[in-house]
Amino acid sequence: MTNSRTVVVTGASAGIGRASARLFGAHGDRVGLLARGSAGLDAAAKDIQNAGGQALAIPTDVADHRAVEAAAEQVERTFGPVDVWVNVAFTSVFAPFHEIRPEEYRRVTEVSYLGFVHGTMTALQRMRERDAGTIVQVGSALGARAIPLQSAYCGAKHAINGFTESVRTELMHEGSNIHITVVQMPAVNTPQFSWVLSRLPRHPQPVPPIYQPEVAARAVVFAANHPKRKQYWVGASTAATIVGQRLMPALLDRYLAKTGYSSQQTEESVSPDRPHNLWEPRDNEAGSDHGAHGIFDDKAVGRAPQLWLSEHARTLAGAGVAAAAATAAVMLRRLPMSSSTAGGPHAGGGSR
Ligand SMILES: NC(=O)c1ccc[n+]([C@@H]2O[C@H](COP(=O)([O-])OP(=O)(O)OC[C@H]3O[C@@H](n4cnc5c(N)ncnc54)[C@H](OP(=O)(O)O)[C@@H]3O)[C@@H](O)[C@H]2O)c1
Repeated sequence: MTNSRTVVVTGASAGIGRASARLFGAHGDRVGLLARGSAGLDAAAKDIQNAGGQALAIPTDVADHRAVEAAAEQVERTFGPVDVWVNVAFTSVFAPFHEIRPEEYRRVTEVSYLGFVHGTMTALQRMRERDAGTIVQVGSALGARAIPLQSAYCGAKHAINGFTESVRTELMHEGSNIHITVVQMPAVNTPQFSWVLSRLPRHPQPVPPIYQPEVAARAVVFAANHPKRKQYWVGASTAATIVGQRLMPALLDRYLAKTGYSSQQTEESVSPDRPHNLWEPRDNEAGSDHGAHGIFDDKAVGRAPQLWLSEHARTLAGAGVAAAAATAAVMLRRLPMSSSTAGGPHAGGGSR
């Protein structure tokens, strides 16, 4: 892929969006950066310019459809028609379901689900006029397998898979040249664990294995360059989770009920009043840029051999099944005997 493109990345001020925007810039693309925080956006624009691309930072709340439309118009006026639109922006609440207030649930859904819907609508409206373009959704293994303490987020990630599948089949029905694909991510070392609203007693953490955001960015750019695939799986843990959920959802329920609270928290206590980004950005003031990386650099890996398996799907299928089988074996060893009977009367009941 050598031609310079117009690319829009939502959630571009930090984490996976920031790393992806920088990589598009390094390929010489013109990148529209959408997020709320000015400090993060300005720093992201500098990253891209330093990497050899052009950047336009537009403070935007993706929960506001009209704001997303206006941002797209601004990008097209400056850089020309949008070739690639990448939906990344998200927020969450780390808490048991019963501790999340209705307005917080609504806000997570409006940002993390409807934000993707707004981006897709806005991109498609423009791409349909030219019958050309690519939309990449940044998904998650948790869009196939929900976990405790993240119900609003998991609901949004499941919903993204659902509406994207619908849109994809409509485009296929029309014989469209527009492509839409999903990149299902593993745990990634990004700022989210330090600024998402949390009611957990200890500091939130991604469930290992943890990958660096550059691994995720490489997958996003690869998907944008090869968008005909329905989805990409990044990391062996993603493959194991998705295949494991297809094969043994009830066993995974028991496993996650047992391990899901402790695996999502470090040993460090955190104030229940820590500042968060649900309603307002945490990277708006001068000097508050968080960058792409979170606080888990010492635990995160910068390579995912399985990413390249995802780019070669047949191999991945074999690897995924093998990984799922290995995961099942580990879980069966950890579970008490009474709950290890996946073929019992409740196994799979109502969970698919
Ligand atoms: N990190 C992981 O372990 C992981 C795993 C699987 C999937 N993912 C997916 O990767 C994506 C990015 O996650 P991340 O970990 O990189 O998150 P992050 O570090 O928290 O970054 C989130 C980005 O979204 C922006 N954002 C938040 N609320 C917004 C709003 N209302 N309007 C516009 N932008 C908003 C943030 O900037 P502002 O606050 O400045 O607006 C920031 O740029 C998400 O879709 C997530 O589901 C992440």
